Amino acid sequence: MKTVTTSRLMDMKSASEKITAITAYDASFAKLFDDAGVDVMLIGDSLGMVLKGEKDTLAVTTDEIAYHTKAVSSVAQRAFVIADMPFMSYGTEELALTNAAKLMAAGASMVKVEGGDWLVSTIKKLNERGVPVCGHLGLTPQSVHVFGGFKVQGRVQSQADKLCADAQRLESAGIQMLVLECVPSELAARISQLVSIPVIGIGAGAETDGQILVMHDMLGVSANYMPKFSKNYLAETGDIRAAVKQYIHEVQTGTFPGPEHSFSA
Ligand code: KIV
Ligand code: NA
Repeated sequence: MKTVTTSRLMDMKSASEKITAITAYDASFAKLFDDAGVDVMLIGDSLGMVLKGEKDTLAVTTDEIAYHTKAVSSVAQRAFVIADMPFMSYGTEELALTNAAKLMAAGASMVKVEGGDWLVSTIKKLNERGVPVCGHLGLTPQSVHVFGGFKVQGRVQSQADKLCADAQRLESAGIQMLVLECVPSELAARISQLVSIPVIGIGAGAETDGQILVMHDMLGVSANYMPKFSKNYLAETGDIRAAVKQYIHEVQTGTFPGPEHSFSA
């Protein structure tokens, strides 16, 4: 078991200690992030975009996530390791159980699923069988074609209320962490107070319980365009280890994200 656990992450929320998270896909970067003191490493299905060069995350497979999860978890000594469940790999409860088992066997300590109340029974089943679950609300990239693009979510009051209700339903179902992506800062702050589990933001302002960035974005080397909510720490520091340390420092002290990296309603 890694040093950072679900109970440690809960304690960090209670103590208002910011949680630092980053995506990781391979052993070398994962070791560097782990040594630097990142709390959480996510094997994100963003790998479809940053590793495979695809336009979205939809073609990523469970076997691909498992391959990269094995590489990351092999070297992680401290950080908590979460693996993304890809598009349609949890479309039914049966699929969710089969595919989550592959990711846990590859070394994940938690799996992440995108979506709201339709996931309640899936989350319960996974929990009952020993799989901790992280939710993901707001801009859920697997639904990009439903949204009609990568757009900020929750700007309309009814949408904001639905996101709050979904966060509470997922918490009752048993999620132990929640990622909130591209929502107005005020809404993210409201949701972070509403639930007792840690909320990790990306493009969600500074008032969540922690932050996550895609590693290629925070190093400014992504093949895709640089999202407004990210920051190029390599340009600032000139060294990858220093860049990661600076990111951790700015998250822990609440200086990242600034208003220029955040969205308003
Ligand atoms: O796939 C990913 O990298 C993610 C994070 C951006 C939260 O889901
Ligand atoms: Na993802």
